[in-house]
Amino acid sequence: MRARYLFVVAILLAVTAAASQAPNSAPTRGFTPVLVPAPASLQVRSGVTFMLTPSTQIHSDDAGVGDFLAQLLRRSTGYPLEEGEHGISLLLSGAPADAGDEGYRLDVSDTEIVVRANKPAGLFNGVQTLRQLLPPDVESKEVRDASWTVPGVTITDRPRFEHRGAMLDVVRHFQPVNVVKDFIDRMALYKLNYFHWHLTNDQGWRVEIESWPKLATVGGSKQVGGDRGGYYTKAQYREIVAYAAARNITVVPEIDMPGHTNAALASYPELNCNGQAKQLYTGVDVGFSSLCAGSETTYAFVDDVVREIAEMTPGPYFHIGGDEANATSPADYQAFMDRALPILAKYGKTPIGWHEFIRTTEDPSAIPQYWSADRGDDSVLGHEVILSPPNHAYLDMKYNRGTELGLNWGGYVDVRDSYDWNPGTFLVNVGEVSIRGVEAPLWTETVVTPDDIEYMMFPRLPAIAELGWSPFATHSWDSFRVRLGSHGPRWEIMGINFYRSKQIPWSGRHQAGS
Ligand code: ACM
Repeated sequence: MRARYLFVVAILLAVTAAASQAPNSAPTRGFTPVLVPAPASLQVRSGVTFMLTPSTQIHSDDAGVGDFLAQLLRRSTGYPLEEGEHGISLLLSGAPADAGDEGYRLDVSDTEIVVRANKPAGLFNGVQTLRQLLPPDVESKEVRDASWTVPGVTITDRPRFEHRGAMLDVVRHFQPVNVVKDFIDRMALYKLNYFHWHLTNDQGWRVEIESWPKLATVGGSKQVGGDRGGYYTKAQYREIVAYAAARNITVVPEIDMPGHTNAALASYPELNCNGQAKQLYTGVDVGFSSLCAGSETTYAFVDDVVREIAEMTPGPYFHIGGDEANATSPADYQAFMDRALPILAKYGKTPIGWHEFIRTTEDPSAIPQYWSADRGDDSVLGHEVILSPPNHAYLDMKYNRGTELGLNWGGYVDVRDSYDWNPGTFLVNVGEVSIRGVEAPLWTETVVTPDDIEYMMFPRLPAIAELGWSPFATHSWDSFRVRLGSHGPRWEIMGINFYRSKQIPWSGRHQAGS
């Protein structure tokens, strides 16, 4: 009982500290504010605690989000959490006027927890916040005997940016379906909403295309280092799209063109200007391959690929790549985009591309993904921009000189580098209104196993997630590092192999409330 009391007090003090912190103020010593990303507004109801018990019920106006919450809580509490009005309610009514599609209000009293939102996406985000208000044991895959308390709070919350993304390169090293699902689950924890799936490159073609079957069977057969590769069947692709959708995540497939296409050029000789198939490539160089811009076969191929991918992709976006086309002349690059972009439009997709492509189009709806560290680049003016500066957002950069995995062409990126910048002022001539959001790409030249993926994602992904979600008024490295440190015990329970950056005061497993 005493331990439970102390736990409740600790959580209340932690949340009070989170609520009272002004930007740049030091966190309250000894107690860790817990929410990442920081909510737009949080008030503590002092002395108020909700306790989850075997008789707690869940009601949801959206069956999908209700099931998600019930399954999560059943797994660790062992409670039945039946449908009913006594306990947790997820309501598609009564949300604040400015909650938008993704915002929510969360009220925790002694007797009930209520999340209100305009859309299921808002309920889902409220559920992710509720998850973080529960003890870390909630993340256990087995039943635990914990004190399932939730501190009394009123939170009103909504995202700063519409687009909060992460990218996984499944080409350089292929990742099976379950690993992609884990990646998506970890995005959802931090309210990210776009999964950029980098599906094709020089080293492999990772998705089945029925009209060009050798792309997958030949082009997908290898990976970096020469080992066996792999590809997703259409059924698996659809399975991942549905899995992401159930977590408020839209899939953005990338078919990188006209460069980064050696795997396709090795699969079909007719895609090459000289009619000769390339050799499969298992190194890590870039910028040496190109589709044949002057050939009609190229555009028949692009049409088939875009059509088949678009059919399986409910989201409105198609990522056309367009980066590092060093083997394509500027005239051919323009000619290629002049033909390829209308094919995306024909199949109802809005183009996203690495920002080089944006100079080829006047279409104001085309979205550049900016991947340079140069803050003075004006090439993206007139478009909404997704920011992925490598010195802040690339998850494949080494943390420091001693990091075994990763690359360093964009510099070393420790947690503070990931967190301590402002997307709204990053490009000197592009105002915040033109920033669509942020994305953290994970390239996998050196990243092979699930442990490797986790080590590069955590703890940097939550930093990018907070930049995408939280109002900049909450931005504070001193606050963030303490809140982030309190997530270590959660990741331990989830079995996540994270980098224990010296910049972060990691909580011991039992300090943060378990
Ligand atoms: C990139 O890193 N080549 C977009």
